[in-house]
Amino acid sequence: MRYTHAEIREMLSAQGGALEELFQRAARVKAEGVGNSVYLRGLIEYSNICRKNCLYCGIRSGNVSCVRYTLSDDAVLGAVRQAYEQGYGSVVLQGGENISETHISAVERLVREIARLSNGTLGVTLSFGEQSLDTYRRWRDAGAHRYLLRIESSDRELYGRIHPQDSLHSYDARVQALHDLRASGYQVGTGVMIGLPFQTLDHLAADLLFMQEMDIDMCGMGPYVVSKNTPLEVYAGELMSEQKRFLLTLRMIAVLRLMMPDINIAATTALQAIDPEGRLKAIRCGANVVMPNLTPEEVRGNYTLYNNKPLSLDSQILEAGVGYRERGDSLHYRRRVGQYVKKTDMTVKKITLIAGNPEIKV
Ligand code: 5AD
Ligand code: SF4
Repeated sequence: MRYTHAEIREMLSAQGGALEELFQRAARVKAEGVGNSVYLRGLIEYSNICRKNCLYCGIRSGNVSCVRYTLSDDAVLGAVRQAYEQGYGSVVLQGGENISETHISAVERLVREIARLSNGTLGVTLSFGEQSLDTYRRWRDAGAHRYLLRIESSDRELYGRIHPQDSLHSYDARVQALHDLRASGYQVGTGVMIGLPFQTLDHLAADLLFMQEMDIDMCGMGPYVVSKNTPLEVYAGELMSEQKRFLLTLRMIAVLRLMMPDINIAATTALQAIDPEGRLKAIRCGANVVMPNLTPEEVRGNYTLYNNKPLSLDSQILEAGVGYRERGDSLHYRRRVGQYVKKTDMTVKKITLIAGNPEIKV
């Protein structure tokens, strides 16, 4: 569906009955567009080494109090096996932006191993920041299918205010990276933070139009959560309340679902950092993907992008009906590359998860 900037802006400020109606419409459009299954991605935070210094992020290179780690191949593959055995359809390898050959070849090797140990059945999503076209291609050739790279804010000026002013943090390079990823054959995901300092509803309406214009396949967006020891921390007192950031994120998800009925939209961890039922609420108003964290316990505390990050997933979230052993590729992507999408690909799988179900541990 196409909306004008003004229409989107109005939906983003919906209250009361209008808000309920927006959420219900988004739920209907989701059911028609992608079905009601929730797809699981096992998230593995591979390394927190990052060359960038984003002003909002806890693992920015300038944060000397952050203990840096990189998981061993065995640790990653152990987590992948766990995901595979528990019925996850996909895994996400995520990490800071590191362009060393050691890192690039390690990721390449891991992707090949994941394909091997799952007989090519596990979906592999990567999220390692901006890389060269050659690197995207190497990882794609190794067997990765999807790539997540948030634009963070599609507004050039706001982007400039939340990043250092240098060539490493270039808005144009960020946009180019999204084009390069698409040209390399990935399902491409992007997203923004919501409730940033200096951000207005006009910025957010423009973000949604940007995503539609870029014809993205997946989206992950979450509330901005103040991170200690970061430069943006000084604006903590000027932000809208956490509850408002949370509700605005739900509106963003709902409106994006109306605009792009067949993409995959993640219910992100940052939502859960604010509300214990955050991800569940997001699923009810348009999201269809959750990413339970499978990072080995020993290092989890070091991957602190923001504070109060939830460490595990409430099993209640899975009540919506989970697509076990399903890769859950973006239907939008499949249509755009000309793959036939059967109605049964959107079958609603109603599997009620009771706490302690041995099938899945999250
Ligand atoms: N609040 C919310 N999200 C954050 N990210 C980084 N720092 C924060 C924060 N303080 C998000 C960014 C990045 C992703 C990996 O984590 O959007 O793309
Ligand atoms: Fe690095 Fe991403 Fe954090 Fe920026 S947001 S400092 S690129 S991990």
